[in-house]
Parts: sequence; C-alpha cells; structure tokens
Amino acid sequence: MTDSRPPLSLVILISGRGSNLKAILDAISSGELNAEVRAVISSRLDAAGLDHARQHQVDTLALDGNDYPTRESYDRALQGLIDRFNPDLVVLAGFMRILTPGLVRHYRGRMINIHPSLLPALRGLNTHQRALDEGLHEHGASVHLVTEELDGGPVIVQVRVPVLEGDDAEKLAERVLKQEHRLYLQALQWLAADRIQWSRGQLLFDGRPLQEPLLLNSNC
Ligand code: GRF
Repeated sequence: MTDSRPPLSLVILISGRGSNLKAILDAISSGELNAEVRAVISSRLDAAGLDHARQHQVDTLALDGNDYPTRESYDRALQGLIDRFNPDLVVLAGFMRILTPGLVRHYRGRMINIHPSLLPALRGLNTHQRALDEGLHEHGASVHLVTEELDGGPVIVQVRVPVLEGDDAEKLAERVLKQEHRLYLQALQWLAADRIQWSRGQLLFDGRPLQEPLLLNSNC
C-alpha cells in the first residue's frame, strides 16, 4: 500500500451476521483498505458478527435496547460509546435500529450505511422479496450518507444486480450480498483516500459535486 495518509478510523455498528464487517476487516488485514477499526458495537449481545471482530483483535461492545427505556436514552449511550473512540467515520453494517435525529445530526457527513436496493427504490426492510414482487429486472445495493430520513441520505455509490429467472428472495439476497462486500470496500477505499467529501450539504468526488451516484462495475 503506497498511501501515506493516516488510516481512516472507523467504528462499525452491527446487529447480526456481520458479513460486511468481516469483508472490511479482511480488506484491512490484507492491505487493500487503509483503515483501522477502533471498535465494533452491536445492538445485540449474541450477534454472530462480534466473533469476526474478536478474531481481528478489535474491541467489541454490545448495547442492548432492552436496557434503555427510550430510543433517545439508547442513542445517548451509543453516542457516548462511539465518541470514546473518536472515529473519522461511523459505519453501519446491518445495524437494525432506527436512529434518533439527534444522533444522526451529531454524525452528519461522518456516518454511512449500506442498503440492499438501488435507492431511492425499496427503502426499508425485505427488499429482495419486494424486488421480486414488483417484477423488477434489476436490483442491487447502495452506500449512502445517513440523514434523518430512513434510507434517504445522499447515495455515494451503487452496484446493480440482475434479477434472474428462478430467483427467490434467498438466491437474490445471496448474490446481492456478494456485491455489497465489494461495494462497501470501494466506498471506504475512496473515503480513506479522501476522494469523497461532504462539504456544505453536497457530496464531492475528486473535488467535484456528485450529481448522481457512482456506479461500481458489476461482475455478476
Ligand atoms: C446487509 O444486507 C445490509 O445491506 C443490510 O443488512 C445486511 C447486513 O448483513 N443493511 P451482514 O450482517 O453484513 O451480513
């Protein structure tokens, strides 16, 4: 790796399986991504993804929603934990909670999410089944900045995945997930190289306003 910049520091939030987290950790270990994960925080004590973090000797923390009476009190505790690690960027990787506006505002321009659809299509849950139900020929995934609007922040980069004959939600999800791993890595590589910036409410790529989402070459 020839980049002499300091590694992009990350705190990654998960709730479950953590395959995107694993892809990020593996890319850091192999030198493909100039970043360091300062902590992984899970909203579930038993999230399988926590094991990936432990295997990479990354600090893990879990914050169970049942321990907090309100969404606001949970998010205040979460913010306190994240800020303890002072990351450049907060990365949501399958974090299954709706964030309060206060938390989102605190990390404006410094928090990204990956969503399994070609946003603005199919915000919310069950995107693969909904893509099939709507008879879409093309599905995919998006990496976007997090704003107060659920799955509604400016999209940085997307990858398209064709819907194939005979697909069910599981098969489609599996193909999309493979592409998600490439997609998140690409977005993070650009962010680590400072090629993507958020300035005065506008996404910039190589210093120029991004008029529409970047597109990752699909290899499927
Ligand atoms: C991914 O499909 C991601 O797009 C969505 O939640 C899922 C998380 O999967 N936000 P994993 O935990 O990274 O395997």
